Amino acid sequence: MLETIKSTADFLREKINGSLPTVGIILGTGLGSLVDLIDNKQVIPYKEIPSFPESTVEGHSGNLIIGNIGPKRVICMQGRFHYYEGYDMKQVTFPVRVMRALGVDTLFVSNAAGGMNKEFKVGDVMIITDHINLFPENPLRGKNYNELGDRFPAMTEPYSKELIAKADAIGTEENIRLMHGVYVGTTGPTFETPAEYEYFRIIGGDAVGMSTVPEVIVAKHGGMRVFGVSVITDLGGKDITDVPTHEEVQKAAQVAQPVVVKLVGRLVAEC
Ligand code: HPA
Repeated sequence: MLETIKSTADFLREKINGSLPTVGIILGTGLGSLVDLIDNKQVIPYKEIPSFPESTVEGHSGNLIIGNIGPKRVICMQGRFHYYEGYDMKQVTFPVRVMRALGVDTLFVSNAAGGMNKEFKVGDVMIITDHINLFPENPLRGKNYNELGDRFPAMTEPYSKELIAKADAIGTEENIRLMHGVYVGTTGPTFETPAEYEYFRIIGGDAVGMSTVPEVIVAKHGGMRVFGVSVITDLGGKDITDVPTHEEVQKAAQVAQPVVVKLVGRLVAEC
């Protein structure tokens, strides 16, 4: 594994024009148009990158985009690898390993999520303050490479408190309503049953989705700071009869997107 990470990072180091990025961004649902804020863009399709899997899911493309947001050099994943697509945890998290090997020390992630918190409305933007890993597997299972991180990494501050405080300040300045909450990560691809949404609420979750947790675990293993945001695209619970669909999720995320892009764009530039 070390060799594969190193050779992919070497390939990108050669290929990247200008200085290497220090900020990584996973452009999940609701953050895609952040690419419009990137200056001096360099686009590298996943299929040209050795050992990179390819994105398969509708609505996600597969490119690394390198460039500048304000004073920061950023590397963005346009399209991520989901566990439900059949990738294993090592594949899902491989790009984060490569980013770390290139020198990235701060990771921004976004996703679409179903809201269980009764205060939430469709279109709300939730800053992820913590998560619950309900994937059947931890991406760190197996041999630990001390070069990459500790065998038993602490997860006491999975999402940077400093970045959350900064995001809240930007939210106040920009008049953006920001919710806070705990993200429950599950495999999907089924949306939840009413009883499952209820269960996730009872165990402490505010929103549920099918991504993010594996990448964040690996980022923390590598010693990175993380900031995560969810767009609430549907609501779930015992008394909610709305039937979520992929199209509805995409549409709701589209509506919230300008707000999320403004928030994350400023946060990246100022972090
Ligand atoms: N559940 C799981 N993942 C999701 C949901 C949901 O309700 N909405 C968007 N992604």
